[in-house]
Order: sequence, then structure tokens, then C-alpha cells
Amino acid sequence: MNFTNEKPFIAGNWKMFKTVPEAVDMVKKLHEASLGLEKAQFVVIPAYTALSEVSRALQGSPVQIGAQNMHWEDRGAFTGEVAAPMLKDVGCSFVVIGHSERRQLFGETNETVNKKIRAALTHGLVPIMCIGESLEEKEGGNTIPKVQSQITEGLEGLDAEQVRRIIIAYEPLWAIGTGLTATPDQAQEVHRFIRSDLAEKHGNDVASCAIILYGGSVKPENTRSLLREKDINGALVGGASLKADSFAEIAREAIKAYEEK
Ligand code: PGA
Repeated sequence: MNFTNEKPFIAGNWKMFKTVPEAVDMVKKLHEASLGLEKAQFVVIPAYTALSEVSRALQGSPVQIGAQNMHWEDRGAFTGEVAAPMLKDVGCSFVVIGHSERRQLFGETNETVNKKIRAALTHGLVPIMCIGESLEEKEGGNTIPKVQSQITEGLEGLDAEQVRRIIIAYEPLWAIGTGLTATPDQAQEVHRFIRSDLAEKHGNDVASCAIILYGGSVKPENTRSLLREKDINGALVGGASLKADSFAEIAREAIKAYEEK
């Protein structure tokens, strides 16, 4: 297994930003920024077009690479889609599945998330499954039921060995790209629930090893207080991962938080 929750796990989702030269330049800057590579785990998640070159630029580096989405079939007449073997082929180790932007804007459901997770695992990719509630659901007191149904349906039919190879990212929709962040207490409450739900369904061993990331307006100023929480093992960072200095600062804060845990 190429990840552990004994060190913070920091993933930068670059979304639909950065041309190939911009993405490669970012990787060079990250290396110059001394991320504290031995004390944390880093994944960069560029757009498909930059995967190959970024992967080449990362050769010999402990920084790993992931993709933002994939199709569940290995190949076929699916214009515009990309398959797991293609992601492996360009050096990906991780793949984001069911990001809220995919769910909201591109019709992804828990069912497609489940199919994609199965395909990713079959091909040795680590899925980063995103879950989270909308503002309306939060205000209606439905955060936990929402998150629980996403976990249950997203992981349906998977055994403990498979679930052990999955990372979960809790990203409340109202916090993504809005500048609003869940307070450490709010986030911890949901993370604790996720871990207890995993324990109930897949055993204590899987739950205690699980990496559960927080995402939604993570920035250098809030990283430390969030990651100090017991059940928060790292961050899935969007906007603040696009600049090397803020990403490196998040990494430094995450390492401090882990030292304080
Ligand atoms: P944000 O995005 O950090 O810009 O809020 C997080 C995400 O979408 O994963």
C-alpha cells in the first residue's frame, strides 16, 4: 500500500486549470519550496492533458500523481472518456471519484461512483471518493444521513480488503470554492462519524487505518486547526493548491498539526 495515515496526506486538485507548461512549472516550484517531503504524502491532480508531462517531471520524486475522474469501462466507444488503464499508463496512482462538481454538473450518482471505484481498484489505482452535503442539507440537519448514504452506496458490495485501499474526502458543498470552511469541530464530527461507520461495516482495523481527508476552502491559515483534529488525516485542496507557495505552506502547517496531535 502506498499511503498511511501516520503522516498527513495532502492532495492538490488543479481542476480545469493549467496548461502543460504551467503544470510542469508548478511541479518544479513545489520541489524548490521544500515541502517536507519525508514528513507528509503529496499528490498532485492535474487535468488529463498534463498528466503525462507532470508524471515525467515527477520521476524520482516522492510526490505522486492522480487524475480527476475516469470511466468504469476499460475501453470502448465512449467519446470523451478516459479509462483506468490509460491513467496507469501515464503514471497515475490515485484518481478522484465523485467530486461534487462531477455529481452536480455532470450527473454522477452513487451508482456511477461505485462502478468507478471498483474499476479503479481492479487496476491498482487508489480512489479518492468525495462525499459531502449541500447547504440545504446541512441546514435541514441532514449532514450525517447524506454522508452515510453516499458511503453506503458508493462502497456497496466492496469487501474490507477493497475498502482498505480507498481514501475518503469529506467536502461539504457549501465550503467548496466559497471561502467558507467547516470549523474544526464541525469537520471532526463528520470525520468521526465516517470512521465509526467504516468500523461498523468493515471492521475496526479498516477504520483505524483509513485516510479521511477534509476539503473545502482549505488554505494555509486553517490547515493546522483542521488537521489537528483526531479523525482528519489530510486535505483535498482546490484553489490554494494552484500556487506553489500556498500549497507548500499548507504542507508545512499540516506537518505541524500532525506533530501536535
Ligand atoms: P477548494 O476546492 O479548496 O477550492 O474549495 C476543494 C475541492 O473542490 O476539492
